[in-house]
Order: sequence, then structure tokens, then C-alpha cells
Amino acid sequence: MAEPSSNPLLRPLPDGIVPAQVVARTEKHWLMVMLTMLIVMMAIIVTTGILSALHPASNVEVVEPQTLHLRGEFVESNLGTATEPDGSVTVRIIAGQYDFVPRCIRVPASTPVKFRLTSADAVHGFLLPTTNVNTMVVPGFVAEVRTSFAAAGEYAMPCDEFCGLGHQAMWAHVTVVPKEQFANMTPFERARCARQ
Ligand code: CUA
Repeated sequence: MAEPSSNPLLRPLPDGIVPAQVVARTEKHWLMVMLTMLIVMMAIIVTTGILSALHPASNVEVVEPQTLHLRGEFVESNLGTATEPDGSVTVRIIAGQYDFVPRCIRVPASTPVKFRLTSADAVHGFLLPTTNVNTMVVPGFVAEVRTSFAAAGEYAMPCDEFCGLGHQAMWAHVTVVPKEQFANMTPFERARCARQ
């Protein structure tokens, strides 16, 4: 029978106890897995940020949520799609429980589009799938997102921040129409859901 070592670290371990070296090796493996995941995720964020202009909205602009309907940029008559002197369009939308106002928006294709949104109550989300448009809409702030649609098409616009019991029903639509067709539309037609 071997003499038990005088160094307690060198004594054989009782059954079921994993040696420290094995624990350290396993931890090192998991650390490598985590580092790899972190590097992959950072690479995706940087790549999509540079190549697809996908990044969080950086605009910090405050607005009084209680008086949106009374004065300022977000009064009812100013909502929807407006044409700017330089040919671009600006879309102003108010998000509220549980709807976007206006809920149907038409914008021209191949034109710079600037969305300006704010919330009248809770935090909402504004997302156009397959585009770079994805922002939180926070009461008290104006969210601004710029984009351009290459071709005509329909986009469903779900609220993607949980904002209360009616959240799942909070949907709106953005319709991208050919540039020439948009030029001939009246403001009323630009905010209508009906097909043209
Ligand atoms: Cu608005 Cu969810």
C-alpha cells in the first residue's frame, strides 16, 4: 500500500470529485466557446452596421407627449407623408396604444425617406422587416430613421415593443409606390389603406 502523500493536493481524490486540472480545462473550453460567440456577434453587428446601415437611431430630440395634438410638428394635419423641397419625403407618425396614426402610409420608391415618430403614451416599436428601419418609439422623444426603398412593395409594420394588452394587434402598413404614381397622389390618397 502506498504511503499517503504529506501534500494534501497530491492525495488521491475520493470518488465523484473532479480533479482541479480537469475543471480548469473544461472552463477554458467554455471560455473559448463564449469568446467565439462574442466575436461572431460583434462581427455581425459591425458588418450590418457598415454595409446595411443597421444601427440604433442616434437622434436625440425631445417633444412634449401631452400636447402632441395641440401644437408643433405632430399635430394631426401634419401627420403622414410630406414632400420636401429637395424631392425627399418625410413621414410623421404618432404611435399610441394600440395604433399608429396614420395607420397606412404611402411613400415613393427610389427616394430618400425620413421617418419621424413619437409616442403619445407607452414605449412602442417601429419595424419594417427586411429594411434598416427598426427603432423604439419612446414618449417624450422623436425617433428618426432614414431609408430608401429600391422597388415598389408592401410592408407590414408591426409594433415590436410590448406596449400593453393590445400590443399584438398594433399593426400598420407602408406601401411603396412607383415615384411617378406618388407624384400624382393627393394627401388623402397618401394616407389611405385602399389599393390604388
Ligand atoms: Cu405598441 Cu406594442
